[in-house]
Amino acid sequence: MPITFEKGTGTFHLYNDHISYVIRLAAGSYPLHVYWGRRVHAVSEDVLARLTPYTDATFSLHETPLDRLPQECPVFGGADLREGMLHIRHADGTSALDLRYAGHRISQGKPKLEGLPCARGEGAQTLTITLCDAPSGITVELAYTLYEDIDIIARSMRIVNSGMQSVQIDRALSACVDFEQADFSLLTLSGAWARERAPYMRPLVPGDQGTSTARGASSVQTSPFMALLAPNADETHGDVYGFALCYSGSFTANVHVDQQFMARAQIGIQPFNFCWTLEAGASFQTPEAYLVYAPDGLGGMSRQFHALVHRHITSSRYANTARPLLVNNWEATYFQFDEEKLLSLARCAKDVGIDLFVLDDGWFGHRDDDHSSLGDWFDDLHKLPGGLTRLSEQIHALGMKFGLWVEPEMISPDSDLYRAHPDWCIHVPGRERLESRHQLVLDLSRSDVRDYIVEVITAALRRGHVDYVKWDMNRNISMWGSAALPPERQQELGHRYILGLYDVMGRIVSAFPDVLFESCAGGGGRFDLGLMCFMPQAWCSDDTDAWMRCRIQSGTSLVFPPSTMGAHVSAVPNHQTGRITPLFTRAAVAMGGTYGYELDLTKLPQEELDEIRALNRRVKAMQPLLLYGTFYRLRSPFTGSDAAWMSVSQDRSEAVVTYVLSLAEPNVQPKLLRLEGLDPDRRYRDEDSGGVYGGDELMFRGIPLKKPWGDFVAQQFHLTAEA
Ligand code: DGJ
Repeated sequence: MPITFEKGTGTFHLYNDHISYVIRLAAGSYPLHVYWGRRVHAVSEDVLARLTPYTDATFSLHETPLDRLPQECPVFGGADLREGMLHIRHADGTSALDLRYAGHRISQGKPKLEGLPCARGEGAQTLTITLCDAPSGITVELAYTLYEDIDIIARSMRIVNSGMQSVQIDRALSACVDFEQADFSLLTLSGAWARERAPYMRPLVPGDQGTSTARGASSVQTSPFMALLAPNADETHGDVYGFALCYSGSFTANVHVDQQFMARAQIGIQPFNFCWTLEAGASFQTPEAYLVYAPDGLGGMSRQFHALVHRHITSSRYANTARPLLVNNWEATYFQFDEEKLLSLARCAKDVGIDLFVLDDGWFGHRDDDHSSLGDWFDDLHKLPGGLTRLSEQIHALGMKFGLWVEPEMISPDSDLYRAHPDWCIHVPGRERLESRHQLVLDLSRSDVRDYIVEVITAALRRGHVDYVKWDMNRNISMWGSAALPPERQQELGHRYILGLYDVMGRIVSAFPDVLFESCAGGGGRFDLGLMCFMPQAWCSDDTDAWMRCRIQSGTSLVFPPSTMGAHVSAVPNHQTGRITPLFTRAAVAMGGTYGYELDLTKLPQEELDEIRALNRRVKAMQPLLLYGTFYRLRSPFTGSDAAWMSVSQDRSEAVVTYVLSLAEPNVQPKLLRLEGLDPDRRYRDEDSGGVYGGDELMFRGIPLKKPWGDFVAQQFHLTAEA
């Protein structure tokens, strides 16, 4: 799996067994984008000669504006008049840049990014191309990591100010791909609280299109991801190009279709409300972007992203390991609990085979509702007379693990912390401090704030002897301002916040190597690859309704595998929608993620507890397959009245298929559901019904569904290959 450089033509070729990515230096200076797609031996054609009347020998910036050429690192302020990856304001206020090739290196593995999380690089190779703007001394290092085992290229950019004066960076993106044609459809994810990550598709048109957020978090409203689908590409067929960003803050993912119907796809930190002063000698590292090419549709793209997460992002401590079945007290008690209530819930959970008890919001300060105490991470001895320590001991004595909810980034105005440090929150002096959920955001750009968080959260986790942490974050930033930053650096706050968050998370997570961390942001408000580098799973949504979860988990699965999606069985009527769904449906849908419960088990009748006990045995038996199997979306809940998905083991000897129908109709015959990913030459037995089918029959004809009866019913098939 090499990265090669052909000196004569100035051509870089990055390839593995399936994909090629080709870059060529025009006139030895400007890296042009030549090709990205299915593996080719080489690209012999001269892009420069075809697209312009010039050759390498006659090319000059003056005669042939880069405006018409597909580039790897377009910049504004020179011969390209489109928006590019980088925009710099020099000390004199001007923005001209002429970045020319200054060298390259090819190295084994993958360097870490300073201050930012990124994928690991086992078995990978990295090409770093250095470009330099001679008059200013601005140097850019473009990094491309090629993997052997996945069809993904990781890209990032590092900007070094080798000049004598400081400059302002107004825009610094992570990746740009200039496609020569624009006949694609663009897919992005949009949503809202409790309705996260719904896919939206539209054909590209001239001008700008894409998705972005300026909320300071990757957000529930969108997701740092986009995909371009070639004509006729769909879930199972056709060329798809996917882009995802390893970043948790404001971002942009944009496609610009220009006068020549070329499509410039770019992804990176949101330039709006961003400006960074780069002192002489300093450097700025952009987050990492992942570029997937898949010839087998959106499903193929997702499977590449899932492999990236499992092999190179999820901490190796949790990759391919069983995750504990948990019960969380949030929807069971909200803030109204005491030690005895929690223990009765835990005892009941233990009795039905649940491994982990999670204590959610309300255990600290004097927090009986969401009006107070964030920042005061000290046990509420009215609710828990023995504090976390005694509760944890009692939970452990039951033979269960103990988990704890925290929201370290926040501060309540009604808290001792706020009274002691009113300037520790993000705010603008002289303006109202805008509360949301009665709370303000701590200024994580400050090292004193970060040190406090690390100290006080670490102490709580130690005192509670915790085995699991749910790290929540329940509001976005408003009234952007930091008491610790000078005026000229205020627009650095968004990125500095995220760097501060990564610092705090890195210190806390590494201090507890055996603790399982799950991120959360009022549901799925920060469901991104950046946080997944620290925490292998994330609460997918505050919406626990089974049918809504079919949608949310389906949209989420475009980028993220089931092992990342916190999914729990909750009470009916559902607390978000009022819908009543059968227990088996709620469980089958929760099996599409890291499985748990979020309801008061002590109030359930014995027959439901018996069913839950049996369901827990089923989940445990199938868990490696459910979480780490190769994932296929079979029916989309966004386009029809049903949803279906399946996971197949690596050796194709086992599969689990889940089908959910929303509204029942009378007088309809049972249907066949076509499966994927099986071995066509083997025979599979349905462990529940005993039915035996050929793999080819299941994939090309379909598995017979049972006659549907009732709304929101689920069917599940656990298939094992016969010896
Ligand atoms: C939002 C989370 O998404 C919920 O699960 C719960 O933890 C609440 N916060 C607690 O305040």
